[in-house]
Amino acid sequence: NTQTLEVDKGVDNDYSYQQTVDCLRNGGLVAFPTETVYGLGALATDPDATKQIFEAKGRPSDNPLIVHIGTKEEVNTYAAEIPETAHKLMDAFWPGPLTLIFNEKPGVIAENVTVGRGTVGLRMPDHPVALKLLRLLGGPLAAPSANRSGKPSPTKASHVARDLDGRIPFILDGGATGVGVESTVIDMTSTPPAILRPGGITVEMIESVIGPVRSETRVEESEAPRAPGMKYKHYSPDAPVWLIEPDQNQIERAVQHLMNEGKKVAIIGPDELKTDKPAWYFATGAHADPSQLAAHLYDALRNCDETDADVILAVETPSEGMGIAVMNRLKKAADGKQFTDYTIESSNMKT
Ligand code: TXA
Ligand code: MG
Repeated sequence: NTQTLEVDKGVDNDYSYQQTVDCLRNGGLVAFPTETVYGLGALATDPDATKQIFEAKGRPSDNPLIVHIGTKEEVNTYAAEIPETAHKLMDAFWPGPLTLIFNEKPGVIAENVTVGRGTVGLRMPDHPVALKLLRLLGGPLAAPSANRSGKPSPTKASHVARDLDGRIPFILDGGATGVGVESTVIDMTSTPPAILRPGGITVEMIESVIGPVRSETRVEESEAPRAPGMKYKHYSPDAPVWLIEPDQNQIERAVQHLMNEGKKVAIIGPDELKTDKPAWYFATGAHADPSQLAAHLYDALRNCDETDADVILAVETPSEGMGIAVMNRLKKAADGKQFTDYTIESSNMKT
């Protein structure tokens, strides 16, 4: 069965780390906290170990894994070419929520991690538990988010346990993660570099360091190559999610309409719009600060699973700064569905 080891509450940390490092060295899996979300780690150079990640998660085998490293220098061990712009980004944002895609040095990282693409995604996480684990292990950790495939990423150890209990030997519990959405993924093998997944480091932050990049989250540049993982269903609680504008009247009309249809409604929305009308309202912080929504979004989506809501309304956030990453995740959770007065008029909700 899965053992959860707390490493931030004055327990015997050394023994907890030793057990998990031994487990990883012997080809086992360990879930651990990063500043974004919890990761499910295996030694990235051991194909038998990394194979188990795909099995435990139910993850499609054509979706490559991010490789986590404990020092910047290790990039030289795994990447074949390191452009000057990459050095600038690593200096500015590592450790931190930014994954850089490089051409890989062949034969180092397990092939099922890179799925034979010839590239490798590297990131140095900014979390004391992750960094200590990496330092003690002295090797690279392949680690996707530690959720069952299709579920919201875990931001607490209890989320990992809910999805993976009995499937993995250890969870290192370092408390709630801070950023709350996954790292930004940027492809450094293309010119200009291309953002494949918006995340904890915003486009503006990146461009302030290396100048213009390609970003499909901006206007018409939709032909940008996407991270392979972005095509799968993601971040989905059990009940259908609909996006809704941050408008009190609109929300009240929607709730009334759904209740008339006999549906129980849960809302994920900012503190300011909290109403008593729906059965459940999960408040995610100040509307003007999308980073608060980022920190609370996955917990809120998972909290909806603990209710018997038939429909989840998720209030949109401004698409700027961290709001871009949050809206990217919310649109996937909602599968593009948006609740408007037109939805009520046509009453053609496909829930
Ligand atoms: O914040 C994060 O990035 C978390 C924590 C645990 O570090 N990890 C995470 O991993 O979100 P995962 O596997 O859920 O998402 C990795 C994303 C996927 O969309 C995948 O397709 C993309 O990164 N990716 C990884 N390696 C790649 C590569 N070589 N080329 C293109 N995309 C890659
Ligand atoms: Mg994931």
